Formats: sequence, C-alpha cells, structure tokens
Amino acid sequence: MVKMITDIKRERIVDILRNKEIGRKVSIYGWVKTRRDSKGGFSFLEINDGSCLRSLQVIADKSLSNYESEVLRLNVGSSVMVKGTIVASPGKKQDIELQAEEISVIGWADPAEYPLQKKRHSFEFLRTIPHLRVRTNTFGAVARVRNAISYAIHKFFQENGFIYVHTPIITGNDCEGAGEVFKVTTFDLSEIPKKEDGEIDFSEDFFGQKAYLTVSGQLEAEAYALALGDVYTFGPAFRADNSNTPRHLAEFWMVEPEMAFSGLERAIRVAEELIKYLFLFALENCREDIEFFNKFIEPANLKQIQKGIEQDFARITYTEAIEMLSKAKRQFQYPVEWGCDLKTEHERYICEEVFDKPTIITDYPKGIKPFYMKLNPEGETVMAMDILVPRVGEIVGGSQREDDYDTLLMRMKEQGVDPQDYWWYLELRKFGSAPHAGFGLGFDRFIQFITGISNIRDVIPFPRTPNSLGFLNRRVYGSDI
Ligand code: 4AD
Ligand code: MG
Repeated sequence: MVKMITDIKRERIVDILRNKEIGRKVSIYGWVKTRRDSKGGFSFLEINDGSCLRSLQVIADKSLSNYESEVLRLNVGSSVMVKGTIVASPGKKQDIELQAEEISVIGWADPAEYPLQKKRHSFEFLRTIPHLRVRTNTFGAVARVRNAISYAIHKFFQENGFIYVHTPIITGNDCEGAGEVFKVTTFDLSEIPKKEDGEIDFSEDFFGQKAYLTVSGQLEAEAYALALGDVYTFGPAFRADNSNTPRHLAEFWMVEPEMAFSGLERAIRVAEELIKYLFLFALENCREDIEFFNKFIEPANLKQIQKGIEQDFARITYTEAIEMLSKAKRQFQYPVEWGCDLKTEHERYICEEVFDKPTIITDYPKGIKPFYMKLNPEGETVMAMDILVPRVGEIVGGSQREDDYDTLLMRMKEQGVDPQDYWWYLELRKFGSAPHAGFGLGFDRFIQFITGISNIRDVIPFPRTPNSLGFLNRRVYGSDI
C-alpha cells in the first residue's frame, strides 16, 4: 500500500541545502539514491527529491522504531518521508545533513526488479526505460534545464513585447514541405472509404479533408504577426522523415518568433540576442546542473557557452561557406559545390574548425530553401539565415518572408506547391502586406548544445524516432500484466 500525503506544500531539498538552517526541524519527501549501513548501528541515506541535483544526506540510527523492520530494507528507488533536524555534517562532502527522527517508507522499490542501480548505466539502456531514467542524475538535470530554458524563452519574448500565439497542431497544409508529414485520420484503416476512381475519399474523414500534424507553426504565426506585430509560438512540431540521426526527432519542440515590419537583419539580431540570453540564463539559474554536464558529459560545454555569451557570433554568406569548404584540407563524405545543401559534416567543419563558435550563414540558393523565403534582388539566393553551433550543427533556420503576392505565387509554382492549399497565406499578401521575418529555434538541439549530450534522444523526456515509441522494448518482469 502506498501511503497518502496530506501536506499541501512539500519542503524542497534545494531550499534546505541553500538555507542551511542548523537546528531547524524539517520533513522531506523523495527517493532513496543510496543507503550505506555502518557497523555502529546507523545508516546513511541519500535522498533526492528532484528539486536539485544534490541529494540530502540522512542519518538514520537504530533508535528509530522501524530501523530494523523498514529502514534496513530501504532500497534504491524507494520513496520515503523523513522528519528530523538539520545538523552540521562532519563529512567532507556536505555542510549539513538531516538527523532522522522519523522515517516513513511510502513506496518500496523491490531491488530484485528495480532497474536502476548506483552504478552508471548506458544511455542506450536508459532509453528503454524513459519512465524511470528521469530518476538518474543526468536526466533529472536535463529536465530541470529544459524547464528553466522554457521559462527563459517566454521571459525573453515577454520582456521584448512579443505576443505568445498558440498555433495549431493539426493542420490542413503540409506547411512548406519542411519534411515528411504525419497524417491525421479517424478512418478505420481496414475499411478506408474510396471514391469511384479508387482514390481515398477524404470528404468522409473527420475534417472532411486531408489533415496532418504540423511541421512548423510559422505560416499561422505570420498571420498573427500581420495583425499583432511581434509574435512567437513555442510548441511541438512533427516530422516523419526517416532520419535516424543524433539530431532528429519525429516530435520535437520549436520556438518560432515572427516579426512584422522587419527584415532579415532584425531576425538575425533577435536570434543572436535570444541565444545569448538563454546561455546567460542557464549559467545563472542552472549552474549546478551545467557544471555536472561539464564534468561528466562534455568538458567543452561550459567554455563554449561562455564564449557564446562573450563573443559576437561569426557571420558569413552561403557562398563564402562553400568557398571555405572547397578549400578545406580534408575530405568530406558529401562533396560540396555551389547549390548543394549543407550536411552536418559541413556545418560542423565551419562552426567548429573554422570559427569555433556559433556561426550565422546567410543568403542560401533559392533551390534548397522553401518557397516563402524572400528572393534577393539578384534572383538566385534568398534572404535566409541558419545558425550553427559546435557539436550540433544547425539550431536555427529563418528568413525574411516573401511579401509580394505575385512573386510568392510564382515561387509556389516553381517549387511545385499548390497555391490552392495556401489561399489564405497568399491572401495575407493581398491585404495590408508588410515586410516580415522570423526564425525557428530547435529547442531540443539547443538543449543538446548547452548540456553537451550528444544524442537528441537523451534531451527530451519521451523521444519519438523511427521505430521507437519509447516503450516498444518493454521489459516484462512477471506475468502479472
Ligand atoms: O529549419 P527548419 O526546418 O525551419 C522551419 O521549420 C521554419 N518554419 C522556421 C521558421 O522560420 N519559423 O527548422 C527550424 C529548426 C532547425 O534549425 C532545427 O534546430 C530544428 O528546428 N529541427 C529539428 N529538431 C529536431 N528534430 C528535427 N527533426 C528537426 N527539424 C528541425
Ligand atoms: Mg533548416
């Protein structure tokens, strides 16, 4: 039986460790990280409640009424309540500890089945237990950093007068062809209604037409920017590309500001300011977690974050990037020539080996970018920008948008996009059009950069990737389910 808790507010270990109030009586709730028993008839428990990386050391001695019956059975992963007094710790590792006066086991974890042990587990193994991996130091820290950065994103935009817009998750257009789309349907898949010519009859489906999960909130954000000025969306995006790489998810989170009466230069400035702001916020508010990553995951990340704050980002055009890549004294897997899309190896070469800091690349060939990007006057390149960072590659993609009705229509036709599907988007260029620009920051890739975690599957709670919906490789212990 799991015991009920009636306290309205739990006391958090992060506050107890910060305030160090020797002599104060507290009660904590959390999970056992470790237990060591000493011969002298007492035990050390490390209790973590998720409020911070550090655990609180609890001293439990045999005078506790349930010492033999419960405390000595307490295992890693069990949940407990401990009441006691904060005392100065004689140990070197901590200033304070909690002398237990009462320990109540809330939910025991059977050590024969609990998959997490004190030792380090591989990320691959932890991916098979996404419901439990958040109890490890690394995944707890990732969760806190994601939370802090989400808050900072809203704070940055709210402080700068941007309006938060909830763009739809289900859409009727495949939004810009940014990637393959997931289809949304309520059809019984074994009995899909067909028309006389054999085509699927979507008029019978839930929305009476084809529907998809959005790949980006941009197009709808543009509509709102052209009424509200500066807006942003921050939500999930879905891409069904069969990309099994350390930087692609089928479901990821994206921040997309969109700004009216603005050109590419403002979008670049806002992006650089946002990223610097988030770096600084992470250092000021998640110091312990970032230092943990620096120590155990990626020894370069702290230095790279600091550099990102202190130095201007590097800036080159696509054409200059191609020149640098052609002159590079190394072989790339994918050859480079003007007009080709930059692959991760190219992006990483530029921002790691050439500049060793965040790098902005502008003015890409129109052929490798979506129809909505504004053409440069010479007609071959578009007013686009990507921001690349070491270890990850592209974290931002953005552009000035085509605001001229006829040019946009022409570009759609050129790229084989059916203008009928985008009638409302075209109409924005008919009624009070204005120059506008925006970008998308890949939230999970940003978290990859600041944590130094190399695989994007390990920076999102429940990763969705081709052939993996998290619990597919379920480990079944007993025959009870
Ligand atoms: O460059 P992308 O495709 O740009 C857009 O979607 C635009 N509509 C954004 C805009 O202008 N409003 O995606 C933007 C960013 C990428 O730079 C990358 O960081 C991230 O989103 N991203 C992904 N992150 C994880 N998994 C994927 N499959 C991603 N695809 C893009
Ligand atoms: Mg892109």
